[in-house]
Amino acid sequence: MAFKIKIGSGKTKSKKEADKAEKKPESAELAAQKPSLLSRLKKPAESARAPSPESESASPKPDSEIRKRISRIKPLKAEKSQEPSDEEILTESADEQPTPAIIEIPPEPKQGLLKRLISIGPKKVREAYNPDIHGVLVDLTYTPPQGVEEIEVYPVNPPFAYIRITYNYQNHEYLYEIVEPHYTDTETNLLNELKKGIFERVNVNTRQIAREMAADLLEEMMNEIFADYAIHLDPKTYAKIHYQLHKDFLGNGMVDAIMHDPFIEDISCDGIERYLFVYHSKYESMETNLKYFDATSLDSFVTKLAQRAGKHISVAEPMLDATMSDGSRIQMTLGTEVTAHGSTFTIRKFKEVPITPTDLIEWGTFSPLSIAFLWLAVENGKSCIFAGGTASGKTTSLNAISLFIPPLAKIVTLEDTRELKLPHANWIPSVTRESFDIAGKGEIDMYELLKAALRQRPEYLIVGEVRGKEALTLFQAMSTGHVTYSTMHADSVSSAVHRLENPPISVPRNMLSALNLICVQVQARVGGQRIRRNKQIIEILDIDPRTNELITNEVFRWRQATDEITYSGKSYILEEIMEAHGWDEERVRRDLIQRQEVLEWMRKRDIRDYREVSNIVVSYFRDSEGLMEQIRSGDNELV
Ligand SMILES: Nc1ncnc2c1ncn2[C@@H]1O[C@H](COP(=O)(O)OP(=O)(O)OP(=O)(O)O)[C@@H](O)[C@H]1O
Ligand SMILES: [Mg+2]
Repeated sequence: MAFKIKIGSGKTKSKKEADKAEKKPESAELAAQKPSLLSRLKKPAESARAPSPESESASPKPDSEIRKRISRIKPLKAEKSQEPSDEEILTESADEQPTPAIIEIPPEPKQGLLKRLISIGPKKVREAYNPDIHGVLVDLTYTPPQGVEEIEVYPVNPPFAYIRITYNYQNHEYLYEIVEPHYTDTETNLLNELKKGIFERVNVNTRQIAREMAADLLEEMMNEIFADYAIHLDPKTYAKIHYQLHKDFLGNGMVDAIMHDPFIEDISCDGIERYLFVYHSKYESMETNLKYFDATSLDSFVTKLAQRAGKHISVAEPMLDATMSDGSRIQMTLGTEVTAHGSTFTIRKFKEVPITPTDLIEWGTFSPLSIAFLWLAVENGKSCIFAGGTASGKTTSLNAISLFIPPLAKIVTLEDTRELKLPHANWIPSVTRESFDIAGKGEIDMYELLKAALRQRPEYLIVGEVRGKEALTLFQAMSTGHVTYSTMHADSVSSAVHRLENPPISVPRNMLSALNLICVQVQARVGGQRIRRNKQIIEILDIDPRTNELITNEVFRWRQATDEITYSGKSYILEEIMEAHGWDEERVRRDLIQRQEVLEWMRKRDIRDYREVSNIVVSYFRDSEGLMEQIRSGDNELV
């Protein structure tokens, strides 16, 4: 069979009035003993980039106008936000100084503000914050400086956090601005006092309690402190203060809003006094308006991230790789031991909703035919390795094609960090474990895990990434009839083979032919846009007995100039499948066309949720003719 297909150039889309300070009669003495709130005021240590002079001087717009503006903002496309999991915690020790993460605000006369914050009067039931009654928390009015254009504003954690993207025509750069509530000096000071008070009161290890309980506990403590000092806040100020505390104790401090942004792939902090950078799926690498101003607050944040991940970072061991509770991967360095500008961190955000084959077609990473080919190959138990550079989308493609594994097949996945998410019922997800001590006691590495997995009698084995001696075991598993999928760092088939054959992996050449396919992933630039593509799908055929050379066949290739994926016209795997099923050429061609049709139909119908995609794949597996009939008749009840 030899048919050539063309695809369009799929672009990656893919964005108080205080009355008077009242002292409760019974607390008068107590209050006299406690240092006053004002006497313990502290300066904020980390802050947002000060608003541009224009935005500062712009007269505040009435709330109604701001609300109108928010209602004009398009809500984000359905993608789950990065909600921290149940184990998020208050990890700082009581003696540690709290790290305020407050946005800098223009100074205001303290006396008047304190008066506005503190009211005297009988204790009232707190009124819930309502933006329609109390006004919006975030001022989204913006007057761009000359040469700057506001590209878009979108909510990430409304009504508290929004993102503004601006473009500067002078330096041709985008800026990622986090827009959160502004805090007056008094509010900032109150927050610092509250943090101190909460540190003094924490007497439970919140790591062991559920997130909801921790949130309740935090609010309870905050209210206790308010009661002790007879502080009554209006609903809007209460909401602002509570948001900041929640963010600092249970959220991700300064980067919390970014962690909520589904368009962000990674966050980099390169040191002190340097603006944080983000990688946005639409605008690529961008500077943000956030930075850490001093080593103490940055070191404290990095230490906190390590503690939260259940790990330890210190001057003795200043480098650490860890997994955040939401699954995001984080690499940290502490102080100036190994990084010149002070502590650093790089967060690779975890996508809670797995990317599906539909997404990959929509973004042009695969063509409908190339992924239909992989679908048929996976269903028929052909093993594959995804090779490519860092962040080229190897794991994403691996997860997406795993949806094609037959529904009841036994699957065991092995990873260092949990990234894979499958809809299959008969699935054991396993992860490696680090040692408890320096001697390496208790460590379970990929090799150990793989040996155990083989005893679990899996039909499909998925190894997150191969880099060491486990690769040999993986190839042994392939040779003994297991279907395996994995990823490895290598930018071409020849470099993948070279890595596999040489230490520390050292797979003998004759074992390499147990592997059926290598898919090469790349990140490239097309028309000024950074895109991820499946560059090649290569079949590993055999070893030439005379030359001992590996015989390969390229089935699909992506051409950068035209951004098209073309079929070479020859596939030995298809021939093997034909033979195994007793199909003729016409039958296999029909099957591929049908699968392509199903994929195109899902794309047009925007069926992108991995469970929904999986349901359709399962329907095709069980009754392909029935599904095709339904699709062709325009049945809407399929999903
Ligand atoms: N085809 C794609 N199109 C657009 N974005 C993608 C695509 N594939 C992956 N991504 C995004 O790129 C980032 C990196 O993806 P992924 O983790 O799969 O890469 P990787 O090659 O496995 O990286 P690593 O080398 O660190 O293991 C993720 O944020 C992911 O959402
Ligand atoms: Mg990966």
